[in-house]
Amino acid sequence: MDVEPDPVGNEAYRAFMGSFPTGVSVVTTVDEAGRPRGMTCSSLSSVSLDPPILSVCLSVTSGTLSALRAHGFFGVNLLGAQGSSVARHFADSTLSHFERLPWRPAAGTGIPRLDGDTIGFAACRVTDTKLVGDHVVVFGVVLGADCGVGVPLLYGRRQFAAWPGAAKGDVAGQRAGLDGATAERPA
Ligand SMILES: Cc1cc2nc3c(=O)[nH]c(=O)nc-3n(C[C@H](O)[C@H](O)[C@H](O)COP(=O)(O)O)c2cc1C
Repeated sequence: MDVEPDPVGNEAYRAFMGSFPTGVSVVTTVDEAGRPRGMTCSSLSSVSLDPPILSVCLSVTSGTLSALRAHGFFGVNLLGAQGSSVARHFADSTLSHFERLPWRPAAGTGIPRLDGDTIGFAACRVTDTKLVGDHVVVFGVVLGADCGVGVPLLYGRRQFAAWPGAAKGDVAGQRAGLDGATAERPA
């Protein structure tokens, strides 16, 4: 390549990444006044298995990010197929999120854990952060994690959808080869 092209435009980049559907989570924490904070997050990624470390990429403008950095702990609430209204709710920073939705402090850490329309929860301690462009990558070691049997919520091409795979979290059935299209990624 003689001359490196300029980075692709915002629309093309968004269209490209939008064609890579992801699960949907709500990242929660507690602010310096002890109030719960949270935001919808699809940038969740597994980073390391041993130790168990995940990452989320949060906008530098995010109020949840500021609270999370100060508190040092955060939760990842995985949304279920019925959770698109929860995702929209936590994507609107003008709303007071925790007054209208059921939640409780997670045992041990006190991190806000959503009740209803979720399929799993992980409690994390921040191990590192890195500013990259207009986002901060937050790395967290997972202190506790549990996952139910619900159907995950997906997001892509600006639409929500229910995961079309085996219902009721039938992981054992998938491993036994009942669904020939399954595969496992190491991390
Ligand atoms: C499906 C979906 C996924 C999102 N994923 C992210 C994300 O990974 N990182 C991010 O910074 N914002 C993401 N957002 C936008 C934030 O949820 C939104 O900007 C929110 O209002 C930030 O709240 P806060 O400023 O109170 O922290 C997402 C929104 C939607 C609808």
